Amino acid sequence: MTYEQAKSLLESNNQSQVLRFWGTLNATAQQSLLKQIASLDFASIERMKAMLAQKAAETALADPIAPEVVEFTAKTHAEAYTAGEQELRAGKVAVLLVAGGQGSRLGYEGPKGAYSIGPITQKPLFYFHSRKILGLNRRYQTRIPFYIMTSDVNDAATQAHFAEHHYFGLNKDDVIFFQQGVWPALTPEGKIILDQPGHIFMSPDGHGGTISALEKNGCLADMQKRGISTIFYFQVDNPMVEIADPAFIGLHISKKSDFSLKLCAKRDAKEGMGVVAIRGDHFEMIEYTELTDEQANRRTANGDLYFKYGSPAIHLFSFDFLKQEANRNMPLHIAFKKIPVCADDGTVIKPEKNNGYKFEKFIFDVMPDAKTVVNLAFDRADEFSPVKNAEGSDSPATCKHDMQAKWRRWLAANSITLPEGLPLELDPACVLDASDLKKGLLLETR
Ligand code: UTP
Repeated sequence: MTYEQAKSLLESNNQSQVLRFWGTLNATAQQSLLKQIASLDFASIERMKAMLAQKAAETALADPIAPEVVEFTAKTHAEAYTAGEQELRAGKVAVLLVAGGQGSRLGYEGPKGAYSIGPITQKPLFYFHSRKILGLNRRYQTRIPFYIMTSDVNDAATQAHFAEHHYFGLNKDDVIFFQQGVWPALTPEGKIILDQPGHIFMSPDGHGGTISALEKNGCLADMQKRGISTIFYFQVDNPMVEIADPAFIGLHISKKSDFSLKLCAKRDAKEGMGVVAIRGDHFEMIEYTELTDEQANRRTANGDLYFKYGSPAIHLFSFDFLKQEANRNMPLHIAFKKIPVCADDGTVIKPEKNNGYKFEKFIFDVMPDAKTVVNLAFDRADEFSPVKNAEGSDSPATCKHDMQAKWRRWLAANSITLPEGLPLELDPACVLDASDLKKGLLLETR
């Protein structure tokens, strides 16, 4: 893109301020700014501006209804498990990890997946995810492709981390990195913000950017080539997740589901998890911030919360559904944030108050398009203990505690009791679940 093309594009979109420091930039900075301008998605920026202009929406929404949630019995679990194992053995399952976030609550510099979580080995989150896939490959004699979404902020560091750790034993060709999109932030007047004289402030477009990024980076085509029909989706911060749980996969396939979710009972009415609801003729996720007090505290006749289950973002998608959604305009979510800005004299100001809007897409917003949605209940003690905060709840300390408690239960199921307080760690490549212990595979402890 030339300067003249950039100028005319910006003028026609009423964003000429982006070039106001042009004359002060050196040739390299000018080229990099032109590259950023060329990458701007003005159709989305128009949608963002329309959102800013919108008066508080007064649309009357239908009352949300709690969906049916499947609870396995021993028999239905066994049936689903067998069906899921067949899908895994046939090489039809891919694993998709979203790891493009910035982990600001944890306050860790670097990709969150590189954060050390092994109670004994200090191995990182990425180790636990990768080794589970290795364990599945071993068990089902397959090669599950592992797609990892990064962002421009952490892509190089994430790829370097995997290379340094020899892909944690996985085949390099089966670990596929792709970057999510980035978007500019806007002032309340709808103007693109410069955070340096030659640089537009950009931030990741949210985990909802996953599907379009999969398409744009050729990952959907790669899945098609590999014969993938089911995609297991999860977040980087939960090392307890049962990756590609065969029973979940079996249920998803047997119901011919487009989008399946694992849900767990919320700790309390206001826990910060989205809830699945039926509104009118479709399913949707209601974020906890959008549940009214009445809805959050609503009870059933037996005293349970009516919206009892929350979503920890453990999903299955059918390949066809992802393909269908790839070019869809997803809704935008808006957040008022502190964004560094370039003053008129070119100095960079870090504002003390929120000054601009960031926009994100959320993965669950494709749910209303799904013809079949399946919700499966699971016990959070077995599968969910995220590392969100540096301290307190959902922190490294609680996660390490919960991981070890789970492994202890597996040992107990095999009549092995360890002295209280003895640290414990199992390598998921060898021990995917309690049944592997029965087979006498590796047990690491101190
Ligand atoms: P969170 O909402 O927990 O965000 O992301 P985060 O960035 O990890 O942490 P905070 O909020 O800054 O403290 C949930 C999952 O979605 C991914 C994250 O990497 C995490 O796995 N994510 C989030 C993306 O991949 N891209 C994004 O733009 C946002």
